Amino acid sequence: MSAKLIKGTEIREEILEEISSEVTEIKEKHGKVPGLVTILVGSSPASISYVTLKIKTANRLGFHEIQDDQPDDIAEADLLALIDKYNNDDAINGILVQLPLPKHIDEKKVLNAIDPDKDVDGFHPVNVGRLMIGGDEVKFPPCTPAGIQEMIIRAGVETSGAEVVVVGRSNIVGKPIANMMLQKGPGANSTVTVVHTRTKALDEHCKRADILIVAAGVPGLVKPEWIKPGACVIDVGVNRVGEKPSKKNPDRMVAILQGDVDFDAAKEIAGSITPVPGGVGPMTITMLMKNTLKSLKFKLGLN
Ligand code: GUN
Repeated sequence: MSAKLIKGTEIREEILEEISSEVTEIKEKHGKVPGLVTILVGSSPASISYVTLKIKTANRLGFHEIQDDQPDDIAEADLLALIDKYNNDDAINGILVQLPLPKHIDEKKVLNAIDPDKDVDGFHPVNVGRLMIGGDEVKFPPCTPAGIQEMIIRAGVETSGAEVVVVGRSNIVGKPIANMMLQKGPGANSTVTVVHTRTKALDEHCKRADILIVAAGVPGLVKPEWIKPGACVIDVGVNRVGEKPSKKNPDRMVAILQGDVDFDAAKEIAGSITPVPGGVGPMTITMLMKNTLKSLKFKLGLN
């Protein structure tokens, strides 16, 4: 059996189309477009490439976009003052501070300084609390978990009563997706188990999963024999395992990416599976755009 591929690249296009038509409609009726500021501190190549893609996507959708790049040695107080400026900027609906930040800056302090109503990453404790309560309380679900849930829904996978096993307990993926899948509502109502580095018999838990969500950051961690035949497998791992010459420009080296699941073997057992790359990755930025649009809609009373 060969699993159905759940392609993030295709689902991204569907969702961006939906966002784009909403942006056009809101602009016509209300004369406003979503405003997003991306704050990048320093010059880490991975962060630059993520932020560049965020800016490109925002521009493609006709958002008002501000790219605010800051030097590696910016003082924490100056970064907090910058956030305060955007908290008070009426044209800005979403503030994104690219992580990780340099060591001399307290990441928690910075994330907590963002107005929860502009926190389109969904990392502020107020939004984490709203997510925990669920239902109408949720304003900005964090982008990667929101993308995962959207993929599961659009792939037509039954979640109600399903055994969901989440591998990994990070604040960005594991904890929030586990919380989202157990809520009442569409694309949820699941029975959820979270496993992590201290779990005994990791394989036994995975074998029970109707939906297996893997966000461990360990290349090839999940073996094909851990997968229940017909299960839906969501691989969140984006591990850089080497470099190769780019297809477009062989003089340039690009990263070789590998997921947390042994994809080639797993696709012969799973019912549906996300590839790496081209699976969960493209969904994160898409959901960031959706949250920024949502933020404007909240402000205009359209939600
Ligand atoms: N760095 C890696 N992933 C993310 C993300 O989703 N949001 C932010 N702000 N920084 C990141």
